[in-house]
Amino acid sequence: MNDAAIPLAGVIGSPISHSLSPRLHGFWLQKYGINGHYIPMELTRETFEKGLKSLPSLGFRGVNVTLPFKETVLALADVITDRAALIGAANTITFRKDGRIQADNTDGYGFIANVKQLAPSWQASIGPALVLGAGGASRAVISALLSEGVPEIWLANRTRNRADMLREHFGARIKVLDWTKISGELAGACTLINTTSLGMQGQQPLQIDLGRIKAGTLVTDIVYTPLQTDLLKAAAARGCVTVDGIGMLLHQAVPGFENWFRKKPKVDDALRAAVLAP
Ligand code: ATR
Repeated sequence: MNDAAIPLAGVIGSPISHSLSPRLHGFWLQKYGINGHYIPMELTRETFEKGLKSLPSLGFRGVNVTLPFKETVLALADVITDRAALIGAANTITFRKDGRIQADNTDGYGFIANVKQLAPSWQASIGPALVLGAGGASRAVISALLSEGVPEIWLANRTRNRADMLREHFGARIKVLDWTKISGELAGACTLINTTSLGMQGQQPLQIDLGRIKAGTLVTDIVYTPLQTDLLKAAAARGCVTVDGIGMLLHQAVPGFENWFRKKPKVDDALRAAVLAP
């Protein structure tokens, strides 16, 4: 790898045209006056391996990986970080100077960094967290909450079996709840996180009665279209502390940008506005 070359990074997925990552990294490149580029690349399952492996010789220092390659990319990595191994997926690939491909997962980091930035007094250790959903995003959120010291995670998913599998994987701090009994358990939760796609524009609503939630509970949603989901609005009306989901996307990008462009970027209101602009 040539240090003097124009640094390149990008995002690989399919489809990729709606990805906000080029806008996000482009904002930072401009802000910090870095003569680099961040490029969206659409690869198919057939072209993924060859495409990824060709990137270092073209001047790429790394890439983000999104759907549907977040799990399969692990098989191509020479080094897998602990958190990527625990989550079972990677979103941040770095082509190291020693030629090895490193796979990391920064989604859980992004989740925690966002909550800490927008609700600085929150701590995972204050009590049980109720997590809705058992997909890829849930795995990242759960692993981050566990490493932040959450005493228990109450996990509810429409398909109970997937929640049971996460309990097997992450261990005894996970308690599986019935999807239909979420509302009844809210009084004991100190943190509530929606990791499902419910409530997203074009998806079904998340139907949850917040009648028993305690004021002051931290409520956050990984859905960010709309930014103020019905869940966040209802929680705010009950005196909960709410954190919207766009910041998770912004913060998960920080470690990759720092690895590739050698500058730790800031997540601030100007970045939010640039990424959210129509
Ligand atoms: P991601 O990787 O983004 O988390 P995913 O693996 O497809 O995506 O997971 C989507 C989550 O949203 C799952 O928890 C899913 O529940 P199931 O495991 O039962 O599919 C949840 N979800 C999606 N549509 C749902 C719906 N209509 N009702 C309840 N949960 C839903």
